[in-house]
Amino acid sequence: MTDIVASNRDRLLQAAVEAKTFAYVPYSKFRVGAALLTEDGEIIKGSNIENASYGGTICAERTAFVKAVSEGHRKFVALAVTTDVASPIAPCGICRQVIREFCPLDMPILLAASSYLEKEDGVRESTLEELLPFSFGPEDLERDRG
Ligand code: THU
Repeated sequence: MTDIVASNRDRLLQAAVEAKTFAYVPYSKFRVGAALLTEDGEIIKGSNIENASYGGTICAERTAFVKAVSEGHRKFVALAVTTDVASPIAPCGICRQVIREFCPLDMPILLAASSYLEKEDGVRESTLEELLPFSFGPEDLERDRG
């Protein structure tokens, strides 16, 4: 873990918890909060936003990325995600691919249990590479095609 991530780790986890409070989840009642740390130490939060047309639902992670990128942020150094579940929950497949678009494969992804502060193993530290092995990303579109 780099210095910037280590020194902002607690803030980032707390931001994910705050983001979760704004989840709009009338259908699933499954709240998710995400927080992205930019290379200059800024934190952008996102919650899941559901829709009566269920396919229109946006996950917390993607809310955070869309907010961040549309405000000019392009370089991220960590992501934290939390839910109300008592053990760490991992991002869905679509979100993993969206993370892949903007983040390095070794970027830390912190998966926090609902009451992570009270548990020794409350935060599972993963990486994009671990969550999305042998992946497809922007650089693949630059490859020679025969
Ligand atoms: N959800 C997220 O926000 N992130 C994920 O990575 C997994 C799923 C949301 C979508 C939906 O609002 C609810 O959780 C149940 O699927």
